[in-house]
Amino acid sequence: MKNISVALDGPAGAGKSTLAKKTAEHFGFFYVDTGALYRCVGLFAFRNNITSKDKEDVCALLPQIVIEMMYDDSGIQRMVMCGEDVTDAIRAPEISNYASDVSAIPEVRDFLLSMQREMAVKYNVLMDGRDIGTVVLPDADLKIFITADVDARANRRYLELVARGVDTTFEDVRADMIIRDKNDSERDVAPLRAADDAVILDTTNLNFEESFIAICDLISSAGLST
Ligand code: DC
Repeated sequence: MKNISVALDGPAGAGKSTLAKKTAEHFGFFYVDTGALYRCVGLFAFRNNITSKDKEDVCALLPQIVIEMMYDDSGIQRMVMCGEDVTDAIRAPEISNYASDVSAIPEVRDFLLSMQREMAVKYNVLMDGRDIGTVVLPDADLKIFITADVDARANRRYLELVARGVDTTFEDVRADMIIRDKNDSERDVAPLRAADDAVILDTTNLNFEESFIAICDLISSAGLST
C-alpha cells in the first residue's frame, strides 16, 4: 500500500518545523526536515572556506558530502555529516545564509532530491521544506503552505535563537529573513511558492496551539489519520 505523504512548505520562521514535529508525532508520521539537508551542504561549504554563491566550488565539494538522517530514541531527527553529528552546528545563523545560497544551485538540489524521495517511499511522512509540494512530492496526499507576515516570523525566530543562547537582535534576524525570503522565492530553480493544489495557512494571527489544531484538522479532513 502507498505510504501517506503530507507536504508542508513555507518561508523561514513561519513556525513550520515546530508545528511539523508536533503534528508528525500526533499522527505517527515520520518528520523529515529537508532544510537540514541544505544546512549540511551550507555548513560543509562554510567549513571549507568556500563562498556559498560560488557554484563551481560548491559543486566540487558534493562528492565528499555524506549525509545521514537519523532518529534518536525520542524520535528527534539528528543530522550526521561525514560521521559527525552536526544537528546543532547547522543551526548557527551564519549557516542559514549559506544554506539559502547553496540551495539555489541546481546540482545541490539534485544531489539531495533522491534522499528526500526515498524517505517518502519507506515511511508515512510529514515533510517540511520549500519545494516539497511542487517538486519533491508532487503527488503528496496533502499539501499545506504555511506562512505569516515577516514581522511575526522574525519575532518567532528571534525568540527561538535567544532561548538557545544565541546573541542577536530582532533587527538582525528580520534583515536576514528578508534576504532569505528574497533568495528563496526569486531563485530560478525550485523557488519557494505554493503548489497550485496547496491549502494556504496564514498563521500571523494564530498562536502555536491554534496553528497546530488547524493543521490537524486539514490532515483529518483529508482522511489521512492512521
Ligand atoms: O527551513 P530552513 O530554514 O532550515 O532551510 C534552510 C535553507 O534551505 C532555506 O534558506 C531554504 C532552503 N531550503 C530549500 O531550498 N528547499 C527545501 N526543501 C528546504 C530548505
